[in-house]
Amino acid sequence: MKPVQIDFTLNGKPVKVLARPNQTLLDLLHNDLRLTGTKKGCDRGDCGACTVQINGRAVNACLVLAPQVAGQKVTTIEGIGSYEKLHPVQQAFMDLDAIQCGYCIPGMIMCAKALLEENPNPTTEEIRTYISGNLCRCTGYLHQIEAVRQAAARMKNSNPGSQDSCKSLALIGSTAKELYMLGLTSS
Ligand code: FES
Ligand code: FES
Repeated sequence: MKPVQIDFTLNGKPVKVLARPNQTLLDLLHNDLRLTGTKKGCDRGDCGACTVQINGRAVNACLVLAPQVAGQKVTTIEGIGSYEKLHPVQQAFMDLDAIQCGYCIPGMIMCAKALLEENPNPTTEEIRTYISGNLCRCTGYLHQIEAVRQAAARMKNSNPGSQDSCKSLALIGSTAKELYMLGLTSS
């Protein structure tokens, strides 16, 4: 099929790309644009590893055709934090040791971020329900749920000074794998 041009906003910046009409957003992001934090697990909407935000809503990128994001705002894990300033959800996952193999983590973080933007004070049950589409084979979910709770509390009582010192300490002890899974490096 002949590629079509798509204009959309990706991680806050306007982009113009060519995509096949039947290409998924996941393949466009991961393969063509090399935003490899967005993972392919099942490729059919079952695992949540490919979760991104479209106009703020958590969406499985494997279920969206790339041309459908024309004119929309897409946010991936690479667009939410940096070495200098982690997103509070990324920071909480680091602090709570909520990462094991890490494959599910970018999708889980994007889902949790969307939840906290929609509902800044979720109950534990609401967190469980919201991230129930994000499957993790390693952790048993307890640390991840606690990380989302902590992120909610930190975002509510946001104190930039204390967050920065916490971030620096976390980054000093980060492994390459953790940084990769937080979307802070592509290698
Ligand atoms: S890869 Fe998209 S939900 Fe599994
Ligand atoms: S940390 Fe391994 S799949 Fe979730």
